Amino acid sequence: MNGRVVRELGTVVDCEDRIEVEGRILSAPREFTYLILNKPVGVVTTMRDPQGRRTVADLLPAGTHAVPVGRLDYDTAGVLLLTDDGELANRLLHPRFGVAKTYRAEIDGRLSPEDVRRLHGGVRVPEFRAASAKVRVVAVRRGRSIVELTIHEGRNRQVRRMFQALGRRVLALTRTSFGPLRLGELPSGHLRRLTRRERTALERHRRPPEQSPRTKRDTTIT
Ligand code: URA
Repeated sequence: MNGRVVRELGTVVDCEDRIEVEGRILSAPREFTYLILNKPVGVVTTMRDPQGRRTVADLLPAGTHAVPVGRLDYDTAGVLLLTDDGELANRLLHPRFGVAKTYRAEIDGRLSPEDVRRLHGGVRVPEFRAASAKVRVVAVRRGRSIVELTIHEGRNRQVRRMFQALGRRVLALTRTSFGPLRLGELPSGHLRRLTRRERTALERHRRPPEQSPRTKRDTTIT
């Protein structure tokens, strides 16, 4: 340790110490930051914006080393994970991992049983066919519907384009969950650290995809 041979069991070291065992340098496991933000509408999911719009960086305490995992549109609110754990971020975003994302969409009009069938069966938008979505109509009021949609893909403006393919306009969109992370009661514009349970649940996504079968994808903290 620090160029000195140590033989005492229970010797306490800290991150600053240089530890060498049989010629190999040991490094302390790095502590990563994991945050969940309730992104408000009117904020871009980047750390800097050349157009001078409000960014997620404006909502983070100074010195926070965490960047968004994926993105939400300027006009979408809800769950956004931020971390400096690049490996986990890549896994969560990789299409093969198919992380479940749930959105609550307010749309004009009412979904017909045929619309629900198309969303469930994989609606074709002009550029691609979306994979099967889980759909739940939560409420219908004054010519508007609240629909909960769970998808496993993350294409640009995917949810809006899926509804657009049905001839429906999305009036408001909120992501209510991302993998095992739920929005809960987190107020708009606020962020918090992940709980230990959430961290453990996210860790499951670090496994290679072949050990992460579809049946295990939708783990949600309750
Ligand atoms: N789908 C959308 O249309 N927008 C988002 O921000 C996320 C998913």
